[in-house]
Amino acid sequence: MNYVMRVRAFAKINLSLRVLGARADGYHDLRTIFQSIALHDTLTIRAARGPFRVTCDDPSCPTDDTNLVWRAANHLWQAAGRRGILRDVSIDVKKRIPLQAGLGGGSSDAAAALRALARLWRVDERRVRATAGGLGADIPYFLEGGTVLGLERGDLLFPLIDPPKAWVVLVLPQFGVSTKEAFAWWDADTAAHRGGGADPRVRPGADTGVGPNGVHEFVNDLEAPVASRHAAITRAVAALRKAGAAHAAMSGSGSAVFGLFVRQSDASRAARALAGRTRTTLVTRTLNRSKYQILAAPEPIG
Ligand code: C5P
Repeated sequence: MNYVMRVRAFAKINLSLRVLGARADGYHDLRTIFQSIALHDTLTIRAARGPFRVTCDDPSCPTDDTNLVWRAANHLWQAAGRRGILRDVSIDVKKRIPLQAGLGGGSSDAAAALRALARLWRVDERRVRATAGGLGADIPYFLEGGTVLGLERGDLLFPLIDPPKAWVVLVLPQFGVSTKEAFAWWDADTAAHRGGGADPRVRPGADTGVGPNGVHEFVNDLEAPVASRHAAITRAVAALRKAGAAHAAMSGSGSAVFGLFVRQSDASRAARALAGRTRTTLVTRTLNRSKYQILAAPEPIG
């Protein structure tokens, strides 16, 4: 009965994030390009008799049933048709992905828990996918990894050809941003822009996301609404560009800002130069789908 597994939960950045409009279900239709990065949390899953438990080395991370890992375990327990209340498993999260940063940490932890528990409880892939979709818009992506186009809520997925590898500098301001709030700011600003009172579900002139040469423009539509309330975002993007980033933008709903670099030495230099009193920085790299699928697979360790 005693069995231990370890599973990595990788973070993502959004290379591009276009918000197409609000939906009737409270979500927004998106066209986004997700990209896995090497920064990861590590989950240790222990099967042993006793009540279900989540522990985390970061005190700001909730360990009750509001934690997505807990909800993921509970949903999969039901989907697996197991009797009674969720039990006989404990999950420890070693947290390295900052919270409320737009890097998908909570969603990736939940997807990692699903991968490991599916193996433990022998749940087929179709059920795991259905469970992931019911837990949050980002979670299905973390079952795929690599470079993926996400449509609708960001959960209709189309794997893309791997772009060239890049070094990634993350600039992490001291504040976090709630995803819900960032989308509400987008709604408010879009309505105000059109004189108020207009239906934010229809956004005339919403562009195709394809630039003059048929190349996808890398834009994050949540960046302006978040940056207008947190000027530190604009400063971080500008500083990364000045430090030579080939591309710099906010990730997801923020507050993390990323810059892409071809050379590791340039990325390290930029990270050192940009670290300061009000923000930290770290250097990581992009992870392609085949690497992701190997490195994100659950490993039995005892
Ligand atoms: O699905 P998840 O719980 O991660 O989303 C958090 C919140 O972000 C949603 O409740 C919604 O307000 C907003 N959201 C959205 N459109 C999306 C994804 C998230 O409006 N495509």
